[in-house]
Formats: sequence, C-alpha cells, structure tokens
Amino acid sequence: AFEVALARSALTLQVPAGRTILEVLHENGVEMPSSCEQGACGTCLATVIEGDPDHQDVYLSAGERAAGKSIITCVSRCKSKRLVLDI
Ligand code: FES
Repeated sequence: AFEVALARSALTLQVPAGRTILEVLHENGVEMPSSCEQGACGTCLATVIEGDPDHQDVYLSAGERAAGKSIITCVSRCKSKRLVLDI
C-alpha cells in the first residue's frame, strides 16, 4: 500500500495492494478522465510532484518514465510510501 496526496484537492488517500490509483480517486469523488483502464491510452495521466512512480503502463516513453514526472493512474503504482500528484 502507499499514500497518494492530491496537492490541489488537499486530500490524502490510501491505495491498498490490488487497487489502482484511478479506482481510489473515483471512489473518493475525485474527477479523473479514463478510457482503456489498461495503461495504453494515456487518458488518465497525472503529473507527479513528489514520489517515485512504479510505471506499469505501455503509454509513456522511456524518457518520460525516467523523468518520473508523470504517471498513468489506471495501472501504475508507487515505489515510495507517498506519491504527491498535481490533482
Ligand atoms: Fe487508458 Fe489509463 S485509462 S491509460
């Protein structure tokens, strides 16, 4: 499990093993567009302010992965305990 802090919404949510960031956002009434929910289309991309994304998608380029400034919220997770997103 890890924690997702939403910088613009002043909300902090827990993402347990087996749940996605996108699911947790939607369960908490946070708007995030989504489409494929398989890490392929990029619709659910969020900007990372802090934390170490564990990329599981097939959308971001190698450079974007390495930069760690964006995350595909329907599939990717976090290697650090806390992820801060610009949402
Ligand atoms: Fe398509 Fe997340 S909804 S990549």
